[in-house]
Amino acid sequence: MAERFTAAIALGANVGEPERTFKRALNLLERDADAQILRRSHWHATEPVGKEGQPPYTNGAVLVETTLTPRALLDHLRAIEEHLGRDRDQEERFGPRVIDLDLLFVHGADGPVSAREEGLILPHPRLEERAFVLRPLAQVAPKERLSRSGRTVEEQLAVVEEGGGLVRLDSVEAGRAWCAASAAEGGTLGFVPTMGALHEGHLDLVRRASRENDRVCVSIFVNPLQFNDPADLERYPRDFAGDARMLAAAGCSMVFTGTLEQFFPEGADAARRDPGLAALGLEGEFRPGHFEGVATIVDRLFDVVGPTRAYFGAKDFQQCLVVEELARSRGGAPEIVRCPTVRSSGGLALSSRNALLEGEARADALVLSRALAVTRSAWDQGLRDADALAGTLRVALEHPGVEVEYAEVRDPGAWTADAPSGLMERAVALVAAQVGGVRLIDNMELSAP
Ligand code: PAJ
Repeated sequence: MAERFTAAIALGANVGEPERTFKRALNLLERDADAQILRRSHWHATEPVGKEGQPPYTNGAVLVETTLTPRALLDHLRAIEEHLGRDRDQEERFGPRVIDLDLLFVHGADGPVSAREEGLILPHPRLEERAFVLRPLAQVAPKERLSRSGRTVEEQLAVVEEGGGLVRLDSVEAGRAWCAASAAEGGTLGFVPTMGALHEGHLDLVRRASRENDRVCVSIFVNPLQFNDPADLERYPRDFAGDARMLAAAGCSMVFTGTLEQFFPEGADAARRDPGLAALGLEGEFRPGHFEGVATIVDRLFDVVGPTRAYFGAKDFQQCLVVEELARSRGGAPEIVRCPTVRSSGGLALSSRNALLEGEARADALVLSRALAVTRSAWDQGLRDADALAGTLRVALEHPGVEVEYAEVRDPGAWTADAPSGLMERAVALVAAQVGGVRLIDNMELSAP
């Protein structure tokens, strides 16, 4: 007699009439797949994950019994999706969906089936992370024990709901264990290190990481090693619970935090990393020790998380260079993905510190991006002399309330501590200034396409 399997299937849709589509999908499944539906959840409405501005999703789950192997069942689910109008080749991750059918877990005669092959990972890599998956699943298989956390579905749902919709861990050890379990299951892990007080700039990195990887981990740690000014560290904004809620909606699977002692049980001094040549000049000069602190924590974070790819914002241009050099010194892993700066509608580069700008300082802060844009126009009109470009930038920055620390031009492909001279083939303009007592940085690649 053929082996019988019990499979949990997740259903999701946010285009057309999800409930009718689900009904048709289940009819097709029972009719053609030698499958009987044992249990069916309610249809739940959920906010979309990973991409804003689309209609809410309807999600559900069913438990079916079938003689199809997991591979054959998955192929059958794909055929049903296609029949109902889904074209997997034409869509973006987390974009609108006519229908989404996923295999969550399968039991055979010998217990849970694990699989790791093209297109088929069992249990499903994001099974334990998503409230919108766990909520309906808890109605059809509440006592199912999950392999990663060792909790039942209903217990894990409570944990994820408590976390604001994602797994929220508050120690380095717990973060490390989650990432190790994730690696053992296979699939790619995207990583976005942050210091919290999250804004659209951070969330943009998380959304991209979420599109490009099977799972996404975010760290939130206000790293004392990289603050050269204790007052700046003291007043740095912190809101772990609020951050976690935003991360869940952006497609993050897990967020973790920790303490300096947990990150460096041997003592931070013993762990210090040389930040390399990219740390010379500009930020490195005005914030002594800053990049050493960044390199030290990022190196340790890479050890803890072991990501496939790590995402950094071009807003911190020199930091990108330092981290890219660090990854090279670690043998080229993880892959560093540099993401464009996200700006307000007025052009201000988003930053956690912008929250500290008061009154006129908010308007004055716009001078930075405007001056960079003026320099970029000069480049576009053919200006190539390094001194002349830097001069253009400095003149454009002259404004009451804006105290420039540096305004410089560098070759983005060949970093130098000192200003280059002569004609430039590639150039990035960088600025740091105090505005209303808040230190802001910004940059713009002049030679970018
Ligand atoms: P933080 O300032 O929180 O920034 C985290 C990441 O978000 C960095 O890669 C930063 O470049 C990126 N980011 C910030 N504002 C951005 C914007 N407007 N557009 C695009 N990306 C933006 O940078 C740090 O934390 C720390 O130095 C860290 C790397 C976490 C090490 O402690």
